Amino acid sequence: MASYVFSPFTLRGMTLRNRIVMSPMLMYRGQEDGMLNEHLYVHYGARALGGAAMIATEVLAVEPRGRISAKDLGIWNDEQANGLKRLVEFVQSCGAKMCAQLAHAGRKSHITATAIAPSAIAYDDTLGTPTEATATDIQGVIDNCRTAAIRAHKAGFDALEIHAVNGYLLHEFLAPVSNARTDHYGGSAENRMRLPLEVIEAVRSVWPEEKPLLYRICATDFGTDGVTQDEADVLAQELGRHGVDLIDVQTGNILPGYAGPVYPGYQTPYADRIRKVTGLPTATTGSIASIDLAEEIIGSGRSDLIFMGRTLLRDPFWPIRAAREAGVELELPIPTYARATGPFERGF
Ligand SMILES: Cc1cc2nc3c(=O)[nH]c(=O)nc-3n(C[C@H](O)[C@H](O)[C@H](O)COP(=O)(O)O)c2cc1C
Repeated sequence: MASYVFSPFTLRGMTLRNRIVMSPMLMYRGQEDGMLNEHLYVHYGARALGGAAMIATEVLAVEPRGRISAKDLGIWNDEQANGLKRLVEFVQSCGAKMCAQLAHAGRKSHITATAIAPSAIAYDDTLGTPTEATATDIQGVIDNCRTAAIRAHKAGFDALEIHAVNGYLLHEFLAPVSNARTDHYGGSAENRMRLPLEVIEAVRSVWPEEKPLLYRICATDFGTDGVTQDEADVLAQELGRHGVDLIDVQTGNILPGYAGPVYPGYQTPYADRIRKVTGLPTATTGSIASIDLAEEIIGSGRSDLIFMGRTLLRDPFWPIRAAREAGVELELPIPTYARATGPFERGF
């Protein structure tokens, strides 16, 4: 039986060797100047050697006050982008592609003195009250995303993802519970979608035609006065019209605590819905740890890519192991790995 998970997938000019992508995961291990270091170099490199088709970076802050923590990576200057270039080249030498996730923490920045948000409404008691973003701040976010995209291209990234989930800045603009603005960035659903769409427009204008642009969407906030499913459907369709090639689907977290159910593949029904509504490819995540579940998701057309998070944290070599168990021959990042065929053979 052919494998769906270990079949290639093409978006614009980029072809992935299989459907497993390392999901963006912040490690809180960068340097305080936003530069990559050896720990993270080896962390990401190990997953590329392990057979994933694409490695997504953790959140890359587009400006210093957009960091979640002081140990986030940044892409707000050329030096940071040069540091990332070395990693991109290594990942590509393993046959994998590399995706940069551009992000702004908004009111969830732990560097609270400088945090901006749509409105001066705190996320919780620990993070303090952010400053309401002025028109200049908002234009700055758009300009910084555009410049970050230019840097990501120069660093050689194959794909770009805009982070708009988990209660960070773009998600905050979308959700009434965090956006009480009375200007054209608040109020109606159309106004609340304005900033994410302006960011996409700015980024797409400089991101090369042959390279795919991804958007990480919140498909519902489960009735917590955040994003509704209907609003997410409309936004996803608009994103497609603005040049987004794939929607990476998440749920919840505009407020502390996750309000939805959790089970293997818990976000896939939402990715399935957005795929049907938009006709765009989607990616799904959520406790996907078995090859059978991954095959079911891709084979039944509920999603096109599995963004795998904690499963790859536990086991960087999960893709190679899963392929072997499924009897699929993979081209190995280091051909000599093929000599590790079984535990009871004589090695020499
Ligand atoms: C340690 C950790 C850090 C994360 N950091 C990010 C991040 O930087 N950007 C993001 O969009 N999601 C982040 N996430 C969410 C994951 O990308 C993923 O969507 C989520 O863990 C569900 O997938 P999983 O069940 O396969 O882990 C993080 C998750 C974990 C566990």
